[in-house]
Amino acid sequence: MNQRFSQSLLGLEDIPAAEIISILDQAQKFKKLVSQNETPIDLLKGKRIINLFLEPSTRTRIAFEIAAKTLSAEVISITEKSSSLTKGETLRDTALNIQALGADAIVIRHSSPGSALFLSKTIEVPIINAGDGAHEHPSQALLDIYTLREKLGELHGKKITILGDILFSRVARSNLWGLIKLGADVTFAGPSTLVPREFEELGATVTHNINDALMEADAVMLLRIQHERQSSSHFPSLSEYTKIFGLNFQRSEMLKKDAIILHPGPINRGVEIDSNLADCKRSVILEQVSNGVAVRMSILNKYCRII
Ligand code: CP
Repeated sequence: MNQRFSQSLLGLEDIPAAEIISILDQAQKFKKLVSQNETPIDLLKGKRIINLFLEPSTRTRIAFEIAAKTLSAEVISITEKSSSLTKGETLRDTALNIQALGADAIVIRHSSPGSALFLSKTIEVPIINAGDGAHEHPSQALLDIYTLREKLGELHGKKITILGDILFSRVARSNLWGLIKLGADVTFAGPSTLVPREFEELGATVTHNINDALMEADAVMLLRIQHERQSSSHFPSLSEYTKIFGLNFQRSEMLKKDAIILHPGPINRGVEIDSNLADCKRSVILEQVSNGVAVRMSILNKYCRII
């Protein structure tokens, strides 16, 4: 891996377990400083971070913005509609211009798998992948893993079930890479059209039997149906999907006593998860969102300071 690549966070597939742990441990320190109101922290003072979000986002964009500001960086957020991409400028030219304007790092969300890698080869500044198509969403997986560690302790041997639309999910892929590196057992569950057996080759257990996947889990992560990436329907109807694969109260009774429920958001209440379960005591969904700030502080601190 050359120096330029090591400055970017493109995904969890190519980073070692030790690097994941170091990001999580630093996030824990940042979380403590934030909770003690010992902010702002001047580690990124003088750095200019550009949030280039070319797909919609609530959690990721805002958390990266808060994280950058808490570390005293200057942060500018751009959406596709507010950029000259709408006038026909290419992604490459957009990035080159952002670099010419003095960016020290670019956080990018894009609908195309490989877009973050492409930018990392095109420009000199670090690239942080905030989601590239169905490929990877490393900062989301890191905050998920952070939350899992906080709730379950050491993840080695823990059983994590990810239930829903795995095929089109960058969150599922990044979590798989990260979790298996930390020794967890990952089960992908859902309809066969959205959870193909091919994922076994990547290290996941694949099942279409939801009850088994829930009974064994220490944690279950629900994923919404990612309609924006599907050109055809993968099941007869949403109501049928909910009936067979949604997490409802009756199915939640199968979970272990201390099992927790996660969701990366956005939630489609009443589809992949019953609305009451999203707010129940087992749910750590909003804690995931809050942890996203400290985790992204740790990511920015690591990848934006070595230039
Ligand atoms: N989980 C996640 O990526 O949420 P946003 O799309 O709101 O950023």
